[in-house]
Amino acid sequence: MTTTTAPSPVLEATGVTMRFGGLTAVRNVDLTVNAGEIVGLIGPNGAGKTTFFNCLTGLYVPTEGKVAYKGTVLPPKPHLVTDAGIARTFQNIRLFANMTVLENVLVGRHTRTKEGLWSAILRGPGFRKAEAASRERAMELLEFIGLAHKADHLSRNLPYGEQRKLEIARAMASEPGLLLLDEPTAGMNPQETRATEDLVFAIRDRGIAVLVIEHDMRFIFNLSDRVACLVQGEKLVEGTSEVVQGDERVIAAYLGEPFEGAPEDTAAAAVEAAEAHATEGDDQ
Ligand SMILES: Nc1ncnc2c1ncn2[C@@H]1O[C@H](COP(=O)(O)OP(=O)(O)OP(=O)(O)O)[C@@H](O)[C@H]1O
Ligand SMILES: [Mg+2]
Repeated sequence: MTTTTAPSPVLEATGVTMRFGGLTAVRNVDLTVNAGEIVGLIGPNGAGKTTFFNCLTGLYVPTEGKVAYKGTVLPPKPHLVTDAGIARTFQNIRLFANMTVLENVLVGRHTRTKEGLWSAILRGPGFRKAEAASRERAMELLEFIGLAHKADHLSRNLPYGEQRKLEIARAMASEPGLLLLDEPTAGMNPQETRATEDLVFAIRDRGIAVLVIEHDMRFIFNLSDRVACLVQGEKLVEGTSEVVQGDERVIAAYLGEPFEGAPEDTAAAAVEAAEAHATEGDDQ
C-alpha cells in the first residue's frame, strides 16, 4: 500500500440516469467514492437513493451513464459487480430466515470460494479445506459485528437491529472494496444506531470504502467525510458535512427547517434520552 496524497477513486459513477416510463427516478448523477472514505447519500423519500444503489450494483441497467470500480467500467450484472468488489445491504432486510446466522454469512462468501462443483459434490480435501477456511472467516466476521455468540441461531429469531448487522457481515463476506449500506439504522434504537456508527468507522478502518444512505442526520453528518444530497433524482449539493448541513437548499428541500443551532436540537436530544431510557431492559 502506498501513501499518496492523490485521492484514489474506488467508485466513479458518471451521468447515471434511470427512467421508468415517464418517470426519471435518477437524473445525470455523478458520484465518486475514494479509498478510505465514508460518503453519505441523503435526500427525501422517493428522491432516488435506492434506485441509484440499484444502478450501481447492476440490479437496474441505467438508462444512461456508467459505473466504474477502481477504474474499470462494470457490466450491469449483480454477480459481476459483487465479483468485482462491491457489496451491499438492502433497505428491506434480505436474509435467509430459516438459515442460521453463520449460514447466512457463508452464503455471502460463495463468490470468493474457488472450489468447483465436482469438488463440492465429492467433498474432496480441497473442498473441505476451503470450507473450513470459509467458516473461520465467517466466524471472524461475526465476532467483528458482535454476533459470534448467536452463530447457530436462526436468523429469523434475531431482533431487528441484529438482523441489520448480520446483513452487513454477509455483505462483508464477499471481501468487498466498497460497501453500500441502504438505511443501516432504520428501526434501530438510539444505542444501536450509535453502535452502528462505530461499526461503520471500523469497516472503513479495515480498508473498505463506504457509501451509506440514511435519514438519520445526526448519524450521517457524524460519519461522513462527504455528503451528497439527492432531490427528485438530481444531485442538489455535495460537500463536507459542515457544508451540506449549512446549505439552505438542503435545509429547504430535505430538512424542512433550520438545522444548525436550531432549538429542535435540544428537543431531539431530550427525545433521544427519553427513548434510550424507555428501551433500557426492553428485550422485546
Ligand atoms: N422498479 C421501479 N419501477 C417504477 N418506479 C420505480 C421503481 N423503483 C423506484 N421507482 C420510483 O423511483 C422513485 C425513487 O424511488 P427510490 O426508492 O429510489 O427513492 P429513495 O430515495 O430510496 O426513497 P426512500 O428514502 O423512501 O427509500 C420513486 O418515485 C419510486 O416510486
Ligand atoms: Mg430507499
